[in-house]
Amino acid sequence: MGNNWLNLANKVMIVTGGSAGIGNSIVKKLLEEGVLVANFDLKNNDQINHKNYFFYKVDVTKKSEIERQVEEIWQTLGRIDGLVNNAGIALPGMLVNPDDTGKYELTEEMFDRTIAVNQKSVFLLSQAVARKMIKQQSGVIVNMSTESAREGSVGQGFYVGTKGAINSMTCTWAKELGKYNIRVLGIAPGIMEETNLRSVNYEKALAFIRGVSIEELRKGYVNASSIPLGRAGKLSEVAEVVAFYLSDHASYLSGIITNIAGGKSRG
Ligand SMILES: NC(=O)c1ccc[n+]([C@@H]2O[C@H](COP(=O)([O-])OP(=O)(O)OC[C@H]3O[C@@H](n4cnc5c(N)ncnc54)[C@H](O)[C@@H]3O)[C@@H](O)[C@H]2O)c1
Repeated sequence: MGNNWLNLANKVMIVTGGSAGIGNSIVKKLLEEGVLVANFDLKNNDQINHKNYFFYKVDVTKKSEIERQVEEIWQTLGRIDGLVNNAGIALPGMLVNPDDTGKYELTEEMFDRTIAVNQKSVFLLSQAVARKMIKQQSGVIVNMSTESAREGSVGQGFYVGTKGAINSMTCTWAKELGKYNIRVLGIAPGIMEETNLRSVNYEKALAFIRGVSIEELRKGYVNASSIPLGRAGKLSEVAEVVAFYLSDHASYLSGIITNIAGGKSRG
């Protein structure tokens, strides 16, 4: 937008998983608004080149790495105004494959990995950052959920399970942190334009589990009758709302999960 309406210039914000997909779109939007952005990701995105952009190689499942980098930002920049818990993975699988082969069934390893990346990371980051936000008596935490967490989604039991947990943690921490002038919000995107989340193996597994061809699965993304607005969402349409929620224009919003899903309400 470029007219500074959001008033975010010089604020300090951490985005996890900012090197690709939705996170990258959020990083770009915040940089446009003059925010000092710290991207916590496993690898950098070399295409982002901006004086206010800082990359920190962080595995969001690792408490020690998170705490070290949060402390470094606090020591060097003196404040942390926003945290966007965006990093996430989706490992598709069904509870039971009736053909007895075990193919595409959920496993214990997939459970542990999904919980660690999607849910534990939100706990570890929120705790480390909220300790600082309480000191400064202000801050906003935005957690990335999914629209399908409320309705369920065939072949995505662990993924939506962690997102349902994120919804509940969001509402709880909004209640705990409100007295320190800290807002906690959830964002629940629906069917979006393609990101790395949708790999070929992911599509193969979901198509198998849902009993459709990969082509039919893909058609559903762009022409889903379940989406009233009749199209997939743009990543920038998520970033716009996240930036607004991080701004003082949303100063009385907390403890809610907002669908950004074109009116879709069933997964
Ligand atoms: N794409 C969608 O359609 C969609 C829909 C609803 C919700 N979401 C949610 O939005 C978020 C972003 O999804 P996306 O589609 O942009 O995914 P993506 O795979 O394109 O990007 C995810 C980013 O997270 C990073 N990441 C993964 N594991 C990490 C770890 N252990 N430590 C640090 N960084 C790590 C990756 O390196 C990558 O840069 C996720 O939480 C996802 O569940 C996405």
